[in-house]
Amino acid sequence: MNAPVVKGLAIQAPAYVKNQKLIAWVAEMAALCKPERIEWCDGSQEEYERLCQQLVDAGTFRKLNPAKRPDSFLAWSDPSDVARVEDRTFICSAKKEDAGPTNNWMAPAEMRATLQPLFDGCMKGRTMYVVPFSMGPLGSPIAHIGVELSDSPYVAVNMKIMTRMGKAVYDVLGADGEFVPCVHTVGAPLEAGQKDVAWPCNKTKYIVHYPETREIWSYGSGYGGNALLGKKCFALRIASNMGRDEGWLAEHMLILGVTSPEGKKHHVAAAFPSACGKTNFSMLVPPAGFEGWKVTTIGDDIAWIKPQADGSLRAINPEAGYFGVAPGTNYKTNPNCMASLDRGVIFTNVALTDDGDVWWEGMEADAPNKALPDHLIDWQGKDWTPQIARETGAKAAHPNARFTVAATNNPALDEAWDDPKGVKIDAFIFGGRRSTTVPLVTEARNWVEGVYMAATMGSETTAAAAGQQGIVRRDPFAMLPFMGYNMSDYFQHWLTLGKKLQASGAQLPKIYTTNWFRKGEDGKFVWPGYGENMRVLKWMIDRVEGRGQGTEHVFGVSPRYEDLNWTGLDFTPAQFATVTSIDKAAWQAELKLHAELFEQLAHHLPQELPATKAAIEERLAA
Ligand code: GTP
Ligand code: SPV
Ligand code: MN
Repeated sequence: MNAPVVKGLAIQAPAYVKNQKLIAWVAEMAALCKPERIEWCDGSQEEYERLCQQLVDAGTFRKLNPAKRPDSFLAWSDPSDVARVEDRTFICSAKKEDAGPTNNWMAPAEMRATLQPLFDGCMKGRTMYVVPFSMGPLGSPIAHIGVELSDSPYVAVNMKIMTRMGKAVYDVLGADGEFVPCVHTVGAPLEAGQKDVAWPCNKTKYIVHYPETREIWSYGSGYGGNALLGKKCFALRIASNMGRDEGWLAEHMLILGVTSPEGKKHHVAAAFPSACGKTNFSMLVPPAGFEGWKVTTIGDDIAWIKPQADGSLRAINPEAGYFGVAPGTNYKTNPNCMASLDRGVIFTNVALTDDGDVWWEGMEADAPNKALPDHLIDWQGKDWTPQIARETGAKAAHPNARFTVAATNNPALDEAWDDPKGVKIDAFIFGGRRSTTVPLVTEARNWVEGVYMAATMGSETTAAAAGQQGIVRRDPFAMLPFMGYNMSDYFQHWLTLGKKLQASGAQLPKIYTTNWFRKGEDGKFVWPGYGENMRVLKWMIDRVEGRGQGTEHVFGVSPRYEDLNWTGLDFTPAQFATVTSIDKAAWQAELKLHAELFEQLAHHLPQELPATKAAIEERLAA
């Protein structure tokens, strides 16, 4: 019963797999992709170690020096496969308008016809791994199950760290439970006798979502969000559709707990675009002047947030690990992260030191120039020296080099990180990366103004996605690359939720917008950032508590210099002015960009948003 045979290939599901729909789907996909064999992953440690060894033998992984970095590996990707590919990502809803103007769209039938020949035989000569996973605590009413079929053992071991992966998922799934089917191939079939490469992939790439049937099909990339399908594809693009239908939110947000010296705890969810500081902020170590304060991590990238009967919002982190940016991470910027990386890590595209450890730009906290290693092997396998770097500008690590590590490695992990009930959210933050114009922090006066701030947020593009970097673009809610349906409908979803919470009489979470990235005339960041962001976080908590002071301006409320605690930091009122000033001409130009966005999103755009814009323009002109 559990062992259908497809053209000589026995599917042979283990006896504990009882879900006939799953078995039939695996058989169907095996018939299409034609792998040489099928491996049903059980998520055991033995399996993880065996697959890692297999990756070492294949040349994909290098085992790091166990004395320096126990149980850790380094992978170097193909230089053409280093980040998410937004221009190859598709939302294939039945109707084009349901994908909206911010997504690539193709009619489902047309996309299926496009993918059919690509997937036909795509796994030849390879193993198809059946990877069962739960997004969220196993069996939690908020969690959802997915199964990823992948011909990449690198994906299988990363999924083990990033999700609750393995046998126990089948117990929850049972005979007729629901799962999101996710098919992934690197798109590099092996003909008989053909030697494999260390990082197989294909120039042609498709990252495809069918929102109505809740399916994910990914072709041609082995990297990050393109390939670890539980993350952006499921937990954001498909889950945002589930959330719209069922009245909850799937967001590109970290979740943290912040506890005062008196022991009062609040929870904050923050949406910053890719590579704009979520991992850092979620693990923040309070600086001098904040003795007794504690910040703890619930999640660093994704939040699933559900309204409760009492009008509160509760959030869980659907993931179980971090796939975080390595460059810039050091003991000063993020000590908790550095401690998390001391063992059991998969590094991708960082540099290799001569003693078998890893290195990346910005790894040394102090005197970075003096601390440069004499020699490295860079992420492309080439010799790297400080001199070569000076002469050619070569980076030892790719700017989007990342680590994969279990949340349980994090010394600042919140005790409720795995709680199926989630945590109650007291405030939302939306923060872009802007070298000009946008002030350090602003509080929205109400929910609609907060939704406006989130919807119109701009940010400079980063190495997290393929394409040009440092270009300011609108990134509504930090969700531009991850929105699974029409962006304007999503704005409406947020507004409707606000009304619903308000009607229940509960206190709504406050909404803030931040910008840690204003630069001075010397081109350097003025705000010290990282741990020092605690000064801003504390002000927000004060405001939530009804204590914090501030000054009202055209967009909302911001702290004056004297409203922040400066103990332990030398930051002058003049510097503060540099990061908080509101330049009228710059904002008039900025509002034109808001207008362009609203033009693009005109279909279904909630009228509250242009109305809020008109009110801001009026105040700005006054
Ligand atoms: P994704 O995983 O891509 O979604 O990104 P993320 O938002 O988790 O980004 P992360 O925390 O890894 O930040 C990446 C980059 O932002 C690194 O280059 C950091 O050095 C930089 N960064 C983070 N926080 C700050 C800050 O407060 N100030 C400044 N100037 N840079 C920061
Ligand atoms: C992001 O780009 O926002 C990430 C990294 O978190 S990836 O998983 O590759 O999308
Ligand atoms: Mn992200």
